[in-house]
Amino acid sequence: MPLHTQDKNWILLTKHTAYVIGLNAAGRLVHHYWGRQLPFPEDYFAENEPLEWLPFDAPGMRMSEEYPVYGSPDHIDPCLKVMFSDGVRSAVLHFESALPEDEALSLRFRDDDYPLALSLHYRIHPTYDLIERWITLENLGTVPVQIERVFSAQWHVPNNGAYRLSHLTGRWAAENTLRREWLSHGIKMLDSRRLNTSHHHNPYFAIDGGAADEDQGQVWFGALAWSGNWKISVETNDYTAARINIGINDWDFGWTLQPGEIFTTPATLGGYTESGFGEASQHFHDYIRDAVLPHGKTTHPVLYNSWEATTFNVDETSQAKLAEIAANMGIELFVMDDGWFQGRKTDHAGLGDWHPDVQKFPHGLTPLIAHVNRLGMAFGLWVEPEMVNPDSDLYRNHPDWVIHFPHRPRSESRNQLILNFGRADVRDCILAQLDKLLRENNIAFIKWDMNRSVSEPGWPDHDRDQRELWVRHVWGLYEVWGTLRRKHPNVIWQSCSGGGGRADIGILHYADQIWVSDNTEATARLGIQHGFSQVFPANTMEAWVTDADSARVPLEFRFHVSMCGSLGVGGHLLKWSESDRAIAAQCVAQYKEMREIVQFGDMYRIHQSHHGAFSAVQYMSKDRSEGVLFVFRTHIPDPVFLPQIMLRGLEPDAHYAIEDVSGSRSGLAWMTTGVRFDLHNFESTLRRIHRIEGA
Ligand code: DGJ
Repeated sequence: MPLHTQDKNWILLTKHTAYVIGLNAAGRLVHHYWGRQLPFPEDYFAENEPLEWLPFDAPGMRMSEEYPVYGSPDHIDPCLKVMFSDGVRSAVLHFESALPEDEALSLRFRDDDYPLALSLHYRIHPTYDLIERWITLENLGTVPVQIERVFSAQWHVPNNGAYRLSHLTGRWAAENTLRREWLSHGIKMLDSRRLNTSHHHNPYFAIDGGAADEDQGQVWFGALAWSGNWKISVETNDYTAARINIGINDWDFGWTLQPGEIFTTPATLGGYTESGFGEASQHFHDYIRDAVLPHGKTTHPVLYNSWEATTFNVDETSQAKLAEIAANMGIELFVMDDGWFQGRKTDHAGLGDWHPDVQKFPHGLTPLIAHVNRLGMAFGLWVEPEMVNPDSDLYRNHPDWVIHFPHRPRSESRNQLILNFGRADVRDCILAQLDKLLRENNIAFIKWDMNRSVSEPGWPDHDRDQRELWVRHVWGLYEVWGTLRRKHPNVIWQSCSGGGGRADIGILHYADQIWVSDNTEATARLGIQHGFSQVFPANTMEAWVTDADSARVPLEFRFHVSMCGSLGVGGHLLKWSESDRAIAAQCVAQYKEMREIVQFGDMYRIHQSHHGAFSAVQYMSKDRSEGVLFVFRTHIPDPVFLPQIMLRGLEPDAHYAIEDVSGSRSGLAWMTTGVRFDLHNFESTLRRIHRIEGA
């Protein structure tokens, strides 16, 4: 049974972990425990009550309150802040009821004096050692309540004396740089204020005591399933555990909760492992593949994308030529990127008018799609539905549909403005256009892009708090995308935002994969992919082989990097030599033979040394019978002696062979004494691993 109730205490059990909360004598919900399962239920209830009242450090400062709200004298960073119509800004909530289910729990609290109810929701994901949490806030009265902050949760990491925070940071074309840093007293904050998830930080955290590595050590980790403004703040003080607030960003947030309305926050996922960062990632990967992705079990095809080859200069002839070469390489899906729609010659015009440009495609898309289909490939298309160029029919007809402040300039970025997806008329218009496109054309794949951050975040004719925009835009995005998914269930979707600006568990309920970065240079990509893999599984990691740095980095190396995810090609194929095309065909064929292992197996970030210039990644099938090992050397000055690679995830007592390495050995031997490869600068190798049955 994943949920145990004992009086007013609740023990949430996953396969290996326990998460324990309970009401204390004062009726406050206390976080008791999060870690490995202990033998007896009473083991979880160590003393967690402040013994005495100290003048400047009230009880809440010295205990781990599960969901602290602003209103007590505690002065810790709270999860909830509301204002009632008479100006009172404290919420004083008392436990009302519990709704336990097999793998879920809801705890409801009510303000005694004001008509506000707060519910904490939990869902247990036993297989993945994950707990999911979110909040609902309900106005039970007759006048509005103003919400100023409502986070999805506060996670508590026990007081181990030292905290190291791992997080993903970066910028455009350099997303997902993994950083590990010590926390000291105060608040460390990560966030997005851009309307989307952002390239700069990702809503992910991991906390350890400093000793964890890929294979061992206690790690508490989590993420937020949300594609808009978000915030993670980690507070540490003298007394208690690190507290991690996570949820919709309260920066410029405002919400008028009308009588009878319920506000639901996005969900956060949290997990605990004693097997290091590697297992933390594997839990996320399995959960995302099994429980989040719409097509989590579908093998992704090898795709070609036209962007880096033809940019905006797409037309039937240019695309048909690329498609023919792509088909000969064994590519299965041909995606025409930006440039195909009305008026789109450069990035100055066209966004908003989602029908084929009459000059470029005088007979519509049908002839090109038919050609691509005849070549044996499916067809995919790029769109950027939330955006509009001032030079478009849509904007000329509806200039009020964009996010803007009156009397202020509408700042353009890449010559575009953002449509307000909070508005029903905007959603209807875009939905109708995209639905028509999908109904009238044989489109198997859509890349949904978003190429700017927000500015002047106003909604002048909204009759409520204009700051609701931050949330309503994202809800609108989910609604449009979700409706399209339901109407066209076989289409595969990719989330892109100028590369990896919208990579989060929220969008993966709608998108099957993510375009990780506009930086397609293979050696840079190694680091970006390393960071991305902390949260996201390989089948969501779309990775193209392009011409970036092709003078320095061999084609085979570039393929190997992209084969670590969902393989794509994005180079200018007309310029590729016959021998390049032959290498490509060989790599594509090789990928097809092993992609089930990469896309659905367990991933091990097996080695990183020489400041990342020597690295290895391994994937193992779930039944441990087959694996793939990738080893990369970028640039290390000679002389260098490359270290042993210790494999992972093998059955210790079974026999395994590694492609082109002599002799079979036990799994334990490969994992403890390893294997060594002599690679030169910018050399890589890909080796299949086979379990020898009956040996
Ligand atoms: C940004 C994307 O990341 C690129 O792959 C490409 O689709 C361009 N937008 C097209 O404008």
